[in-house]
Amino acid sequence: MTRVRIFDTPAGLARALAGRISRALAAQPALVLGLATGKTPIPLYRELAGHHVAGRADFSRATTFNLDEFLGLSATDPRSYRAFMQMHLFDHVNLSPRRIHFLDGTVRPGREVQRECDRYERAIERAGGIDLQILGLGMNGHIGFNEPARSLVARTHSARLKPATRRANAPLFGNHLGAVPREALSMGMATILHAKRIVLLATGSTKARCVERMIAGPVTPRLPASFLQLHPNVDVWLDRAAARNLE
Ligand code: F6R
Repeated sequence: MTRVRIFDTPAGLARALAGRISRALAAQPALVLGLATGKTPIPLYRELAGHHVAGRADFSRATTFNLDEFLGLSATDPRSYRAFMQMHLFDHVNLSPRRIHFLDGTVRPGREVQRECDRYERAIERAGGIDLQILGLGMNGHIGFNEPARSLVARTHSARLKPATRRANAPLFGNHLGAVPREALSMGMATILHAKRIVLLATGSTKARCVERMIAGPVTPRLPASFLQLHPNVDVWLDRAAARNLE
């Protein structure tokens, strides 16, 4: 069942979600979090860092798994998603580095990619699965890097990025589109849908049409986020602009 919550502003949404995550950490210190990069969760990560400084969020026993990483970039590359997470969250909270999990973007195409994807799936399983998965929403309806297609991939895999997705990521690469990798590693649809709870965030009017299709449209691989309709415990948290097409 998809529950929709609408906030006046992205800042209000971030405050409320940071509160929910801090309370979840207090109730379950060894919480396993699935995390997203992108513009949408930045205010959330800022709030969480603030909660930690104020002594309201203890990450010392928590585990994290990020959704995706560009192929060809190392963890120390400032354009990598790993570096993004370091800058926006990991450097500001007390997560243990050994409990931070990321896909390794430096693996070579072919067997190494497959091994890396299998390793990630096993690590998630060993951690007991993801308790709370945070998702953003691509303008074309992607979640993680599960792009619209005739069919979707269940498990962690390498994905070819759509031109629109590469354009949306160009700012990380100095707005030089040619520098944006064409492929990435991503959790698959089943990996995401196996999370016990999911909170999808979408803010801004550019997401409004996609939000409407995700919630009220058919479940279709042409809009991967529509598969969230099949999950028993999904919250869709929106600001007013992203919710403007909903009743
Ligand atoms: C990033 C990710 C992507 C983004 C999506 C929205 O880790 O998984 O699916 O969540 O592209 O990005 P923003 O928030 O920049 O609009």
